[in-house]
Amino acid sequence: MSEIRFDNRVAVITGAGGGLGKTYAVELAKRGCKVVVNDLGGSSDGTGASPMADQTVAEIKAAGGEAVANYDSVSTPEGGEKIIKAATDKWGRVDIVINNAGILRDKSFLKLSPEDLSIVLDVHLKGAFFVSQPAFKVMKEQGYGRFLFTSSAAGIFGNFGQSNYGAAKMGLVGLSNVLAVEGAKANIRSNVIAPIAKTRLTEGLLGPLANMLLPEQVTPLAIYMVSEACQLNHEIISVGGGRFARVFVGLAQGWAAGKGKVPTVEELHENFDKVMSPEGYIIPKSIQEEMGLLMKALV
Ligand code: NAI
Repeated sequence: MSEIRFDNRVAVITGAGGGLGKTYAVELAKRGCKVVVNDLGGSSDGTGASPMADQTVAEIKAAGGEAVANYDSVSTPEGGEKIIKAATDKWGRVDIVINNAGILRDKSFLKLSPEDLSIVLDVHLKGAFFVSQPAFKVMKEQGYGRFLFTSSAAGIFGNFGQSNYGAAKMGLVGLSNVLAVEGAKANIRSNVIAPIAKTRLTEGLLGPLANMLLPEQVTPLAIYMVSEACQLNHEIISVGGGRFARVFVGLAQGWAAGKGKVPTVEELHENFDKVMSPEGYIIPKSIQEEMGLLMKALV
């Protein structure tokens, strides 16, 4: 099997001063990639700032790799532009963006303040948008690009006390899906991972499992998914503790009332087991595939 390399490729990794992002930066650099190590360097609730990215860059350079630090916040359009400009100014291109920066403001729904909502949406969802938009422009011109977004089981499946975070993390699935559709012709691929690993964000949350969930067990998937060898697009992969599993949004065959018919509430009630049956589901890659299924039911 040939080694997966990233020579002449340029990656931007947000939130790469520590945790999962740092492992991606170090591994990509080891494989020949030039890396922009972005990190605002705040605390895990999104307050403060520090030159945390320097440590990752120092480690990469000490191992003979190439990297630059960037300390801008992902959460503003200007920050996003500057992060991508750090790559184009230094190396003239951007091949890979790993949207990884993240914070937590966990509270049960009724206790959540508007500020807890805004800051979490700003970093995770808007932040990924602000970094990806200028990168998409560059990738389109190059005719090559790989996006990786970091979602979470908290959004995909739901978790107590994470309504702000869950909404942001599921929003990223929507963003990635649209980039997968819009970028396909320009050889741009966009995918999502939903990791589980012991980092400063989760240390207190994983209980006795924590020491079996190493960040390094997530790294190979992230590296593979941003490589040229990976042709996946519009996918979500769950990863943790060395286990890798596809997550998908399926569309079942459903029940159709009949051409031109408006069913009664009772008729719908009677047929609800067919509405709910997963039998014969498809995994649509775009809205067109749902329309295809709908047309079949109508004609
Ligand atoms: P981490 O706290 O070690 O890493 C997140 C990094 O993002 C930090 O270094 C932080 O300084 C940086 N950051 C925060 N706000 C920023 C901003 N505005 N601009 C630039 N950088 C910023 O935590 P971890 O676990 O490595 O998190 C990485 C990603 O994985 C996050 O998006 C997180 O939500 C996600 N995730 C992690 C899980 C886990 O089990 N560790 C579970 C599911 C998702």
